[in-house]
Amino acid sequence: MGNNILKGKKGIIFGALDDRSIAWKVAEQCHEEGATFVLTNAPIALRMGEINKLAEATQSAIIPCDVSLDADMQLLVEQATEKLGGKLDFVLHSVGMSLNIRKKNPYTDLNYDFMHKTLDISAISFHRLLQTCFKADALNEWASVVGLTYIAGQRVFPDYSEMAEAKSMLESIARSMGYHYGKAKKVRVNTISQSPTMTSAGSGVGGFDAFVTYADQMSPLGNATAGDCANYCVSLFSDYTRMVTMQNLYHDGGFSFTGVSREVMGMMKDV
Ligand SMILES: NC(=O)c1ccc[n+]([C@@H]2O[C@H](COP(=O)([O-])OP(=O)(O)OC[C@H]3O[C@@H](n4cnc5c(N)ncnc54)[C@H](O)[C@@H]3O)[C@@H](O)[C@H]2O)c1
Repeated sequence: MGNNILKGKKGIIFGALDDRSIAWKVAEQCHEEGATFVLTNAPIALRMGEINKLAEATQSAIIPCDVSLDADMQLLVEQATEKLGGKLDFVLHSVGMSLNIRKKNPYTDLNYDFMHKTLDISAISFHRLLQTCFKADALNEWASVVGLTYIAGQRVFPDYSEMAEAKSMLESIARSMGYHYGKAKKVRVNTISQSPTMTSAGSGVGGFDAFVTYADQMSPLGNATAGDCANYCVSLFSDYTRMVTMQNLYHDGGFSFTGVSREVMGMMKDV
């Protein structure tokens, strides 16, 4: 049972692919807390059909949008405000895709056409979303926009490849747009840096199982789940966090500030 802390709030949720998706859990939690929203994903992802179950459960409309296309983004923002009957209070950007990782190209042999596409989908799309909302004046004052990121934006994780650059750029866009949108309309923009999470995008990263275990053993609280992340998103969409903006917020059970844990040292003993 929710506490209705998002009652009356309207939003857009990007990136629910299947019930493992972080965005899927966020949608369920936002619904539980009284929000109404539009769900969106790339047309090719919508064809899988899984999202229809979520739309039904949360009484949401689905509007297709390939985040790398200006026209799609404009149509989405236009149609979402129309369907929801007014300006928006929150947006979740939960989108990421690396063509070079998908094609298993090593970091020292990247295809740059692929890299451009990766940056466009995973980072520039956050700017495209915010700029489209800005120009259409589609967000209410104190609206909250959240993007999902990973600590590879700050530190090297060898198999994260070009997604590290995408995440650094995403976080930078959150800061810059947070400034401009904050000044103009009191809109807040943040990124959440989430623990590794078993989802479709996550498991595309090489050696992901070992990676999840390592992070879990390093973090004093263990890994944050997709459900935990959904709760954090709800708090950022709510009025309880009105003065939080331009931040990269670690949501990782303490991983980011742990040098080493006894558990991980223990694993090294026999090496
Ligand atoms: N899973 C993890 O370990 C982890 C950790 C930290 C951050 N994140 C981030 O969380 C976000 C959500 O990922 P997830 O783990 O829930 O995986 P996911 O695969 O469920 O979600 C990724 C989504 O991006 C969508 N997408 C890809 N290309 C698109 C396009 N051109 N237009 C519109 N949508 C497009 C996919 O259809 C999918 O719904 C991503 O930004 C990811 O990098 C994930």
